[in-house]
Amino acid sequence: MTTTLTTTPMSEAGHRLPTPADVPGRAGELLASLGERAVLCDLYDAVGASVYHDLAGTGTHEVRELLALVRRIPGPVLDLAAGSGRLTLPLLALGREVTALELSPYMLELLDRRLADAPPALRGRCLPVRADMSDFALGRRFGAIVLGTTTISLLDAEGRQGLYRAVREHLEPGGRFLLSTVDMTATASGPAEVDMEIVTDSGRAYRLFEHWTPDAGSRTVTLFPAVTAATGPVQVCTTTIGVLPAELLEAELAAAGFSVRSRHPLPAVGERHHDVLLETEVTP
Ligand SMILES: C[S@@+](CC[C@H](N)C(=O)[O-])C[C@H]1O[C@@H](n2cnc3c(N)ncnc32)[C@H](O)[C@@H]1O
Repeated sequence: MTTTLTTTPMSEAGHRLPTPADVPGRAGELLASLGERAVLCDLYDAVGASVYHDLAGTGTHEVRELLALVRRIPGPVLDLAAGSGRLTLPLLALGREVTALELSPYMLELLDRRLADAPPALRGRCLPVRADMSDFALGRRFGAIVLGTTTISLLDAEGRQGLYRAVREHLEPGGRFLLSTVDMTATASGPAEVDMEIVTDSGRAYRLFEHWTPDAGSRTVTLFPAVTAATGPVQVCTTTIGVLPAELLEAELAAAGFSVRSRHPLPAVGERHHDVLLETEVTP
């Protein structure tokens, strides 16, 4: 992993530590009302990682579409920003060698635990690596490089340039870079803030706020426990994600030397989100 000199407080997961100013709207008001009881954390940090995993870690969004593409591409797979392995495990189940690259040590710990429970034949084909997807050098090439869950939106413009450079250096000739982003043409407009209660398979209940004014170019997801005790600390997890429309992403990819071979609309997430999975290759 590349160490960056910065004056911004960073978490061990490599993300800037969130502050109350990062939480807009009603979520921000609820946070303020908790006063000193609120313990604000990043969604991929020590506490946040287990919340993310509880909410999404075993979900199936975009898995079917991604596997259908990877099946047609021979060779080892690189799963970028692998998290706790939501896509890594199904990719391994295809019988491929999978390198799972992830920045957050907490996410990698969750992935290690899932691999420990997996059959040895599957576990033996997975190499988890802690690295930054915007600047990595693994010394090998892959048939397919995957970046799912619209995670490219977590990188700023400079980070994305680093990502495109690193992906080009790690793709086999004829290899494919598969990545998803938000499809603004299919995404419905709605209120600036959505407030919903979610009960996960594990039985934990959360109050999730998503604040998104597309003009602002980013959305903020904040999670509170659905029920808070009258006293004691309250963990609040938040993440701010850039909104990178497919059109803009495709223009960036073209400038970085990638051609889009196919576009696959993904099932809607909640009321508003429509994502698209892009199959790209290095332009010959
Ligand atoms: C939305 S989650 C996706 C995780 C997994 N791919 C999935 O589908 O559930 C985004 C992941 O990106 C990781 N991440 C954020 N910035 C990163 C970076 N610069 N390099 C590598 N991983 C990063 C986070 O720690 C988190 O695990």
